[in-house]
Amino acid sequence: MKKKPKMKFKLIMLTLILSLMVTPFSALAAETSQPWMNKSLSAKERANLLLEKMTLEEKVSFVTGNLNNFYGFYNEGLERLGIPALTMADGPAGVRIANPDIQDKKSTALPAPIALAATWDEKAAKTYGELIGNEAFNTTHNVVLGPGLDIARFPWGERNFESLGEDQLLQSKLAVPYVNGIQSYPVMATAKHFLLNNQETERFTINSVASERAIQEVYARPFADVIQKADLSSVMCSFNEVNGTSACENETLLSDILKKQIGFEGFVMSDYGANYTTAESANAGLDLETPGAPNGHWEEKLLKAVKEGQVSEKQIDDMVSRVLTEMFSKGLFDQPVQNNLIPAEEHGEVAREIAEQSMVLMKNEKNALPLDKDALDSIAVIGPDADNASAAGGGSSLVIPTYTVSPLEGIKNYAGEDTKVTYAPGSDPISAGDILPGPSAVPSSLLSPGGNGKESGLKGEYWTNLHFEGEPYLTRTDNQVNFNLGFYNYDGLNAQSPKLPKTPGEFNREMSARWTGAIAAPETGEYVLSLSSLGTGKLYLDGKLLIDNESKKLVTDQKTVSLEKGEKHQVRIEYSTGEAGDAQDFGAMIRFGWEPPKDAIDQKMQEAVNLAKKSDVAVVVTHTYDSEGYVDNNSLDLPNNQAQLIEKVSEANPNTIVVQMSGRAVQMDWQDDVPAIVQAWFAGQEQGNAIANVLFGEVNPSGKLPITFPVDELNTPVSDEIQFPGVEGISEYSEGVFTGYKGYEKEGIKPAFAFGHGLSYTTFDYKNVKAKAKTKGKNKDTEITVDLNVRNTGDVTGSEVVQVYAGKLPAKVDTPAKQLAGFKKVELKPGKQQRVKITLDAKAFSYWDEKSDQWVMPSGKVPIYVGSSSEDIRLVGSVHIR
Ligand code: BGC
Repeated sequence: MKKKPKMKFKLIMLTLILSLMVTPFSALAAETSQPWMNKSLSAKERANLLLEKMTLEEKVSFVTGNLNNFYGFYNEGLERLGIPALTMADGPAGVRIANPDIQDKKSTALPAPIALAATWDEKAAKTYGELIGNEAFNTTHNVVLGPGLDIARFPWGERNFESLGEDQLLQSKLAVPYVNGIQSYPVMATAKHFLLNNQETERFTINSVASERAIQEVYARPFADVIQKADLSSVMCSFNEVNGTSACENETLLSDILKKQIGFEGFVMSDYGANYTTAESANAGLDLETPGAPNGHWEEKLLKAVKEGQVSEKQIDDMVSRVLTEMFSKGLFDQPVQNNLIPAEEHGEVAREIAEQSMVLMKNEKNALPLDKDALDSIAVIGPDADNASAAGGGSSLVIPTYTVSPLEGIKNYAGEDTKVTYAPGSDPISAGDILPGPSAVPSSLLSPGGNGKESGLKGEYWTNLHFEGEPYLTRTDNQVNFNLGFYNYDGLNAQSPKLPKTPGEFNREMSARWTGAIAAPETGEYVLSLSSLGTGKLYLDGKLLIDNESKKLVTDQKTVSLEKGEKHQVRIEYSTGEAGDAQDFGAMIRFGWEPPKDAIDQKMQEAVNLAKKSDVAVVVTHTYDSEGYVDNNSLDLPNNQAQLIEKVSEANPNTIVVQMSGRAVQMDWQDDVPAIVQAWFAGQEQGNAIANVLFGEVNPSGKLPITFPVDELNTPVSDEIQFPGVEGISEYSEGVFTGYKGYEKEGIKPAFAFGHGLSYTTFDYKNVKAKAKTKGKNKDTEITVDLNVRNTGDVTGSEVVQVYAGKLPAKVDTPAKQLAGFKKVELKPGKQQRVKITLDAKAFSYWDEKSDQWVMPSGKVPIYVGSSSEDIRLVGSVHIR
């Protein structure tokens, strides 16, 4: 990426010289009437000069978001004093443009942040941030709502894809260059969501209860680092409660921890609609209410609170001054935002390179990978969305890409003319409905709307009222009954396949719908039929009521029925969301599901199996739908029977490679059935080329897991109901500081794939480790370093992420048996060796002492583990801390 095109620079210089020659007087005048425009003053001085000129009304208005502005993403500026508006764009996976007048809302869709985390590469994080800063500035934005620094606490977290993984140090190490990258442009970065915002289920109300130690050592840690090491401008407080008080009115969090203890000088903004109070939030340390009207709680209400003495004017001045100081210091006054066309290909290349680095080779038996295109005549590409390039997470981070390359296209392009690449979906496309819990949706090929078996799916009739009254507003054929509307169906938030019809926004609130047609089983046997729904859902089979759901919570009920192969049964499903104020807040949620007998497979899957059988290699591209919203599905099963698809395809062709597109962990009971697995995450708009380059060995994979993949949802350190979804609205962070891999180790739970795991097409040898601790500088800070030799012992160039873990500390409190203390990515040519030096994180050798409210580094011997993953430890040493 060219950072600053020379042409533009020359143009700016010319304009500057001309303006100095032509208008020296008016420039001077502007400076005198607006003395804060004097660049020789400090940001703080400039902010103070400006603050003096603002009336109380202006100050209050300035810190209050206003929905009347462009698409709800702007906080108004102040024309009278020349204060630019805060023009915000969601991150953290690229720049989400809300204004349709700006470049058709298109920008570069980067690999999801979880993929960036899998690179374990600080340089990649810097490039990622720079690209976001560049595109934000050049698409008229001066605030980016990213990075997302929520720890991936649960393997099933629906927003894990927006996070930088489960470890605080990995997050910090990547977040610092990421923020520096964004802020190398006149753009302010926003770290979110402060704090303990780790689940989507009950996300607006959940009370996250955690110890001071867990907050300090784990959850607040990445925020502290971007504040102290990257001069972060802004922090976004979250919707949930933290230890009983809403995050945006939580004085302990915002004033005591963030501002006083961590020393944050920037400003705190609320998540959109997360400010629930007036004086409480203002006094607790919230500095800016984002557009939340008509439910906003500031503006006139805040003005009144000041006039009545509930909030001091000093407090308001502090809020305004924090925002203004950041605006001056990051250049928002001196370099107004621009609208310049994004260089799609050049930036696409950056997205591809990061995607390539993020791919994790989970397994590779008998060198199944890389594929040798000269030795292959045919490749079957299989998977519901392998032909669809929009694999990204849904919700506020969804970016409309400048162009896309699907895995199928990428593989076809790479394979060239001489290798026949064919495609079969194997199942119906993945949609937002797949987030709902319960058995997979009944495949479309079992269903027929007219009952004649010619067309697949069911006839869907939709009403915008609750009781099927009048003529349906919409009638169409739906391939499956698998819907998750409301938030998940808003324009620009839904990441589902273009192969699926869009449901009009009219159905996002109250609605009713009826689906009718027939179902015919692919084999004779016992079938589980299920209905997952929120509101009222009724399933009739041959006119008889089989399932009757009525609930203000999402529920699944199921019945087992015997079905004869090919015999048609009438199906009718009647659904109503329920009235406004209860289920309607979530929008429609309904799925008609099934569990087939072991060997019954539907027609789409059979076609994929047939294709695999006659091909040299089968590449199965799996897909999950992950999104911000209202639910986390704590089943780790692949949706739409994709696990069965892998089993059946691999039975038909032992050369089956699985490429997994998911933003979180999935259950892989099928891992022994296939020789190779690549975790490809949501790899952004260039995903197809990146996947092909890894599969064919153009790129040697070097990604490492930033999250643990458990065997299943029951075998994790957070599988207790009090942790997820919580009991009576409270989620207890009872695992304390033992998050992620630290908890698996403590509980003795063996994961399917460990944190830090990732293979290469070459092998590495680790030797001669030396660990040292010495005191340095005036403050006598302890510097702990590890040196070792790493050699590439294979035949191809490759990169290895050398990981160093600190062992149990000689402390009075319980500390992890292994905690990431440092890492380094090294590239080595075949046979080459390098002495690698890694400086370790002092905090991995310290704990937060709740009694004295400070970090304590206990003295004594600490074991040091050096390895290729948290489980694959190659060398052991120790250091003496004095
Ligand atoms: C999300 C934030 C996002 C905001 C604005 C909220 O729902 O939690 O991450 O920045 O919407 O889109």
